[in-house]
Amino acid sequence: MEKINIGKNVFIYPMPVTLLGTTVDGKANFMALGWVTRINANPPLLALGVNKVHQSSKSIEENRTFSINFPNADMIVETDYCGLFSRKDIDKSDIFEVFYGELETAPMIKSCPLNLECKLLHKYPLPTNNLFIGEIVAAYTEERYLTDGKLDMSKMNPLLLTMPDNNYWNVGEPVGKAWSDGKKFKRKE
Ligand SMILES: Cc1cc2nc3c(=O)[nH]c(=O)nc-3n(C[C@H](O)[C@H](O)[C@H](O)COP(=O)(O)O)c2cc1C
Repeated sequence: MEKINIGKNVFIYPMPVTLLGTTVDGKANFMALGWVTRINANPPLLALGVNKVHQSSKSIEENRTFSINFPNADMIVETDYCGLFSRKDIDKSDIFEVFYGELETAPMIKSCPLNLECKLLHKYPLPTNNLFIGEIVAAYTEERYLTDGKLDMSKMNPLLLTMPDNNYWNVGEPVGKAWSDGKKFKRKE
């Protein structure tokens, strides 16, 4: 098959769907965030790409704390709402029941199966976005999302995102074992 050049405005396939939690004027605020990934093993560091115009960008800089919350597939409407409307126009503090860990300005969402509580380490301004690097100081879940003490995707039922078609997806079935299946590789003669 011949390859087709589809230009360069492409994204990671797929992306996680998360809700970035910050504090604005003493109240919780959440925005939908797909551009987030783990970037260091120890300490556990995350990188986020947040547009400079978003209220959340300003709030991370102000408080130097934030949370990353993973909604489940039943939370699409609330999650998308947080991605459609800015705190600059609408107070989003009453959408979710919130709890706090050790950082006073990193609100987390009770109904999300996984919450990461983070402190800001670095900010790198890029042309449109701020690249924030944060350290995970604690992670929270509930017993019902664990199997043998580990987070179980099938119980968490997280959401995935693709752009630019802008679809939300479910996670499918596991199809292999990482750091294991590669041992079966044999070169063709
Ligand atoms: C599914 C989804 C994912 C999004 N991901 C990002 C992202 O990774 N980075 C970003 O800057 N904006 C992203 N947005 C847009 C912000 O969530 C949106 O502009 C939000 O209103 C900003 O809220 P705030 O001004 O209260 O911070 C996303 C929106 C949606 C719907």
